[in-house]
Amino acid sequence: MIDGPVTLLVVDDEEAIRRSMRKYLTLQGYEVAVAASGEEALTVMGRQKIAGMLLDVNLPGINGVDLVPRVLELEPDTAILMLTAVNDATSAALCMQRGALDYLLKPVDLTHLGRAVQSALQRRHARLEGRDTGRRLGGEIATRAAERWIEQANQERISVATLDALVNALEAKDPYLRGHSARVADLSASVAAQLGCDDALIEAVRTAGRLHDIGMIGIREEVLNKQGPLTDAEYEHVKQHVLVGSQILAPLLHLKDVITYVRSHHERWDGFGYPDRLVGEQIPLGGRIIAAVEIYDALTTSRPYQEKMPPEIAVERMRDLVGTVLDPAVYQGLEAVVTQRQALVFLDDATG
Ligand SMILES: [Fe+2]
Repeated sequence: MIDGPVTLLVVDDEEAIRRSMRKYLTLQGYEVAVAASGEEALTVMGRQKIAGMLLDVNLPGINGVDLVPRVLELEPDTAILMLTAVNDATSAALCMQRGALDYLLKPVDLTHLGRAVQSALQRRHARLEGRDTGRRLGGEIATRAAERWIEQANQERISVATLDALVNALEAKDPYLRGHSARVADLSASVAAQLGCDDALIEAVRTAGRLHDIGMIGIREEVLNKQGPLTDAEYEHVKQHVLVGSQILAPLLHLKDVITYVRSHHERWDGFGYPDRLVGEQIPLGGRIIAAVEIYDALTTSRPYQEKMPPEIAVERMRDLVGTVLDPAVYQGLEAVVTQRQALVFLDDATG
């Protein structure tokens, strides 16, 4: 390991914050450099080796969120802690998705700051030592963002809440996806209940619904944002999201069932799905439920190329998929839940 003084860089446009953090961190034994803007931070990094960075989200010029990837491009092992004025889970998750290790709320409590810096530097150190973790997981991981998440999940217990915030951040980029996972989670849980599943299974299905597409973080932006049909190679790449998703979640041992649902949510009843080509009841029930609900959600939400369908029409249309794509029992459960919900809507309209 590298010994000697550890240098931190405080990036904040407020002079008072730079001064108090520098003072506190110097007392803790760190070398401290400061910068008032993103541009200045990059210049400082060109001059000296920075182990850790405290980075304000709101900066004039390049903002903190956009600075994260540029910093990591210069020096991939920088331990970055974000400083944010508001408890904004989405921008914090976005920073963490881009490779920041943690975020602190302003005004920063200095003792908390000390602990957070220490733990971020420890993680950085563990990462330097465990360099090849990502490589061991196989070549199919597409992006550095996905590698980072897997690495981070291996080194600590990432909470479901953090992953949830990450899903929100991913969806926020696409107006057609916004709220998709939350709706899928909610409806999938209702379908599981309708099918008579026990509470533990219902909750596992709900969590899997929230996280089912988290592996999209491993899919290249140009493929995700492509207008028009995908080439075969691009489609193969998109399919990786079920594997990337289950790898991100793999270290979370208490989510064992959830992980099987995430992995299997694109399997088909007739065995022509992916990634494992499971057939019928070989497919975990949670995966079968999410598969059906995801199609329903796509049909009932507007998309660039499609008006949204009313619920009863969507369910009707999906009847054609029973026995090929969909498990007949799961379809019946979905149909029952949608019918009940529609009845409630009419009741509401009539009485409200
Ligand atoms: Fe998916």
